[in-house]
Amino acid sequence: MLNCKEAIEKRRSIRKFSVEPVDTEALEQVIEAARLAPSGTNRQPWRLVLLTTPEERQKIADTVIQPFVCEAPAVFVCCLDREAFVRLSVEKRMDELVEAEVISREAAQYIYQRKMPEKTEEVIIPDSGYLDLGIAIQNMALMATALGLGSCWVRLFDQQRLHKALSLPSNIVPVVLLPVGYPAQAPPPRPRLKRDEIVIKI
Ligand SMILES: Cc1cc2nc3c(=O)[nH]c(=O)nc-3n(C[C@H](O)[C@H](O)[C@H](O)COP(=O)(O)O)c2cc1C
Repeated sequence: MLNCKEAIEKRRSIRKFSVEPVDTEALEQVIEAARLAPSGTNRQPWRLVLLTTPEERQKIADTVIQPFVCEAPAVFVCCLDREAFVRLSVEKRMDELVEAEVISREAAQYIYQRKMPEKTEEVIIPDSGYLDLGIAIQNMALMATALGLGSCWVRLFDQQRLHKALSLPSNIVPVVLLPVGYPAQAPPPRPRLKRDEIVIKI
């Protein structure tokens, strides 16, 4: 198992996978990496659909642009749950944090006074929700690398068609696909900006 630094340095977007299936234990560790991610007000809005059989992957085959996605032995459909942003859900998560002595009752009250959607249908997913999901997905990608697996973030897919193809409930919004499998390629590091191009001097 690679350490954190090694996994960050070794991770690449993998677009060619071996046909070797990924064992359930490894996939469970990838799921666990998502589960442990931090999120705003601890709302944990990520939901995952795991497609592992050829039949399951075939269901989404014509919703993706790049065929490699469904050639991976496992594909995670990484979704947001609108339900996680309604008042009742947020208050539940805040109560847990008060109970765990993470935040004070006063701080929780301050959040309760915020304007929040009361019903799932009223939810417009905030930017911070996408940050939450992004953290969870990158945890998954790094855990996959640490376990010797490859993965690739994929946004190039038809969201509406995929939603329909998997008969997802209306509160579930598919955002990113993460195909996972043993790499059948070992690409060199991709181009990156230099240190001084990303650190702004003030
Ligand atoms: C939000 C996001 C969306 C991406 N969408 C796609 C995609 O649809 N298809 C694809 O082949 N790669 C996709 N990528 C992978 C990027 O192209 C890749 O991360 C970038 O070129 C750097 O290469 P590396 O991941 O190997 O370091 C995406 C990456 C991110 C973070």
